[in-house]
Amino acid sequence: MRVDAVAENLLAWYDKHRRRLPWRAEPGAPPADPYRVWLSEIMLQQTTVAAVKPYFERFTTRWPTVADLAAADDAEVMTAWAGLGYYARARNLIACARAVVSDHGGRFPDAEAALRTLPGVGDYSAAAVAAIAFGHRAVVVDANVERVVSRLFAFSEPLPQARPALRTLVDRVTPDDRAGDFAQAMMDLGSGICSARALQCLICPLSAGCAAREAGTPEAWPVKTAKRAKPQRRGTAYWIERDGRVWLIRRPAKGLLGGMRALPSGPWQDEDPGLADAPAAADWRDAGTVAHVFTHFALDLRVMTARLAHAGDDGEWWPIDRIEEAGLPTLFARAAARAIATRDSTGKDDG
Ligand code: ADE
Repeated sequence: MRVDAVAENLLAWYDKHRRRLPWRAEPGAPPADPYRVWLSEIMLQQTTVAAVKPYFERFTTRWPTVADLAAADDAEVMTAWAGLGYYARARNLIACARAVVSDHGGRFPDAEAALRTLPGVGDYSAAAVAAIAFGHRAVVVDANVERVVSRLFAFSEPLPQARPALRTLVDRVTPDDRAGDFAQAMMDLGSGICSARALQCLICPLSAGCAAREAGTPEAWPVKTAKRAKPQRRGTAYWIERDGRVWLIRRPAKGLLGGMRALPSGPWQDEDPGLADAPAAADWRDAGTVAHVFTHFALDLRVMTARLAHAGDDGEWWPIDRIEEAGLPTLFARAAARAIATRDSTGKDDG
């Protein structure tokens, strides 16, 4: 397939089959609001479209403009973000909104290089916003796009080493006009038709020129270097209860799950810490273990429960019947669910 035929075929397909998404402009309409494009792209990093939609609706209802978000209370934003994961992104989100207001008069800059200077805006997000919100030609490459081009060209160097070469290929097929639609068309193709496993080559607008399809085993691309197993860490989290309330702390601003509400928990290491980091001596009961996978390690978090009158100085007694409103990150929400399940089955008045 000619290089410019890739964009032609893909855009014709996109005009008919694009997903309707809350941050997208309708066909023929002016580009979407840069604030909404930026917010959606930050949320969509490492998270699926289905998971992002309700968060996007809530954020844009609560904070309709970048100035509203810049003026928001940090803790409220972190709570609204809870469950999306990768909490450094939420802290950068606030910092970025404030930078747009203080350094750019409340309007997102349109050039890719200027966008890249904003907190939390890397190569991918800068290119995506420049293309989608401002219509500039930019080379937008995420994992979906990498999969599509690696198949289109049957490119056999393994990821992640192949990343710069794949970017060059995306550059070659990116049109001068409609670069934003092109980027989103690649994403739609990658998430639906040219998916990792359930490929649908029969209805793919690029199948006629696809080298991987011609080779007969398109699912063999992209080639990836074998991953090493993640290290396994262990920790204990403490559910401390008093009068229908549970003791929650806020994690230090820097580091994993930084700035989020949480159950008290010591450092997570190779060895099971047992009760070594318990906040106090008590009749601790084992409520079971939550297994959770982070980017760089897997965690087995044991949940211990007790009733105590005093749990520490730096924290708050949170009503257990309103635990969903605490904005616990998923790991601690699961730990809380375990504690609550054992509490209900053992009766509330013991201890
Ligand atoms: N994933 C990341 N950005 C996206 C977008 N704009 N549309 C669909 N999926 C995406």
